[in-house]
Amino acid sequence: MSNGKITTAEIIAMKARGEKIAALTAYDYPMTRLLDECGVPLLLVGDSLGMVVLGYSDTTHVTMDEMEHHIRAAARAKPRALLGGDLPYRSYETPTEAVASSRRLIAAGADFVKAEGGRAILPQIKAIVAANIPFCGHLGMLPQHVLEEGGYKIKGRKDEEIVALHADAAALAEAGAFAIVLELVTPPVAKDLSQKLAIPTIGIGSGPDCDGQILVTPDLLGTFPWFTPKFVKPKLNAAEEMRAAITEWKRTL
Ligand code: KIV
Repeated sequence: MSNGKITTAEIIAMKARGEKIAALTAYDYPMTRLLDECGVPLLLVGDSLGMVVLGYSDTTHVTMDEMEHHIRAAARAKPRALLGGDLPYRSYETPTEAVASSRRLIAAGADFVKAEGGRAILPQIKAIVAANIPFCGHLGMLPQHVLEEGGYKIKGRKDEEIVALHADAAALAEAGAFAIVLELVTPPVAKDLSQKLAIPTIGIGSGPDCDGQILVTPDLLGTFPWFTPKFVKPKLNAAEEMRAAITEWKRTL
């Protein structure tokens, strides 16, 4: 840590100390400020914002301009937490494009960038790291590939998927990623990967044995009540409380 700001080294040190890493998504100023006040060390302006904030059917519609807009809003909260931003779909097709897109997100206020994929995007990841931009990997179910894959599929059930996950995770760590999000990976495979890697795994729907856990904050708080993933147990039904408060206010007019 320096000046209280969480660094990538601190996130890695948390794993070394056996301390669970809490991570949540944040898409604007108030939520970033609130989550930071709660001491969440890792925040992500995820492209999930396309679905839970912008109303798109999936994350492939999110643009670079939209990511920059939301990262700027989140960064205005000046969080102590390490604040990441997702590289949107098709913004990292080549190493040159990956670095240019990453620089835009960093200029908007992100402390690190995240992109989906392993060996398939290794030249891009190496270029990002060589440009001194902190990088977080994302393996398992890749939401930006939902259309090609025909749905959100759990990964790690088939032998070839397990082999690929291990090879991808090792390649990301070797390339200099400081952490890897594991999304919808079968819990035993996620546990095995977490034990083998020196860098932290941050699970989402991948069982309890990852080094940290990330959730889409509206899923946790119930502010997007129209769909909640099966693996999330909301801690609050905020939508219901908001409906009640609004209805009550209308009644008193
Ligand atoms: O887009 C997102 O919010 C994410 C997290 C769920 C990991 O990628």
